[in-house]
Amino acid sequence: MPLDSIAGANIVLGVTGGIAAYKAVELLRLLEKQNAVVTPVLTKGATRFVSELTFNALCSTKAYSSLIDYDEPILHTKLGKNADLILVAPATARLIGTYAAGIASDLLTSVLIATNAPVIVCPAMHTEMYENIAVQENLATLKRRKVIVVDSEYGRLAQNDVGKGRLASLDTILAVVKRTLMSHTSLSDKTVTVTAGGTKEYVDPVRFISNKSSGKQGIAIALEAYYRGATVNLVSTVVGIPDYLYGLENFNIYHVETAQQMSEKVLELSHFSNLVIMAAAVADFRVANESRLKIHRQEGTPKLELVPTVDIISELVTLRSKSVTKNSNSIFKHQKIIGFAAETDNLDERALAKLKNKNVDFLVANDVSKADIGFDSDLNAVSIYNRGGLIKHVAKKNKHEVAAEILDVYESEI
Ligand code: CTP
Repeated sequence: MPLDSIAGANIVLGVTGGIAAYKAVELLRLLEKQNAVVTPVLTKGATRFVSELTFNALCSTKAYSSLIDYDEPILHTKLGKNADLILVAPATARLIGTYAAGIASDLLTSVLIATNAPVIVCPAMHTEMYENIAVQENLATLKRRKVIVVDSEYGRLAQNDVGKGRLASLDTILAVVKRTLMSHTSLSDKTVTVTAGGTKEYVDPVRFISNKSSGKQGIAIALEAYYRGATVNLVSTVVGIPDYLYGLENFNIYHVETAQQMSEKVLELSHFSNLVIMAAAVADFRVANESRLKIHRQEGTPKLELVPTVDIISELVTLRSKSVTKNSNSIFKHQKIIGFAAETDNLDERALAKLKNKNVDFLVANDVSKADIGFDSDLNAVSIYNRGGLIKHVAKKNKHEVAAEILDVYESEI
């Protein structure tokens, strides 16, 4: 049954015999930390790398490694039926081949065949094995059967070899677990474009005018939309986007710097987007007389001539209304646009005026005069408005929780 979050989910964690088996211990800890109920199932090979005792010590249930050693007569069907999700990490070539062939040769492969729950397989092996045509064909077979494969990464392997085949990062695996458990929500057939960070308007090749936006709120919204099953486009000026986000399928990251670049990318993506969230702090002005060469002190104090940037959100609204009249079946017909407002005074009044002025569907306003929330903080407090006025005030929470509140509003209003 689809769940709202990872908490309380029954997850069977299948562990097979590869060097990455030790990472499954940390994965178990991370899943348990998020209150998932994890039942580790180890293959015989896995127990050569990490013991059942280790998993037993960390899980809230019980770890298993044998089909017939237990009081439970039909353990594999019980585990298969009770599971909300089966996650195999790491998955060896043997496990992938056995599962693809439909052979129930031990407890883990029996559970995999005895379940209707979604299955995530995370391959980890040496490059030669990973690239072997048989392994690739087996992975393709699993994918065709709707098994979710979290592809291996390039990196250091056993015996200091380097290549493709390394277990995906645990953060990537966790994000896919969350998405799989939550993707029943209304975003699973939606494409969501989110902007994040402050734009940079260059003075010369080494200097720019920017603002304090960290992009954390935009990234949190993009991730929450991903968990809810959306295809996500993150258009971001942020340099330090967490690495694991690059490893997620259906999570597209576009780097931009200036308001002009952001505008071009967002307008292009809006043709395919059901929802556009302009969380970025876009500069209102750019430097008209940007110098091609570095400006030197000896040249005297430069006089910067500022001109307005393109108002991206207004362009989005204009494009939507033009496109709807031209083609009533287009994605624009039901497209929603969410604006942000960072204010230091008269929040309600300014937010409502901005919503009307920009003609957006929702506006998320935050008070950036408070040091503990907003810019660069992990916390935020926002008020969300639609054309009828205030919908919801979200008191101080971390930005991931605020992201969930914003998407809840969108989901309840479509
Ligand atoms: N925005 C935009 N393009 C710009 C400036 C802002 O798309 N050139 C978007 C922001 O991403 C945000 C919303 O418009 O979603 C409101 O941004 P804000 O800077 O608060 O509004 P401004 O119209 O610039 O008004 P002011 O700065 O005067 O408050």
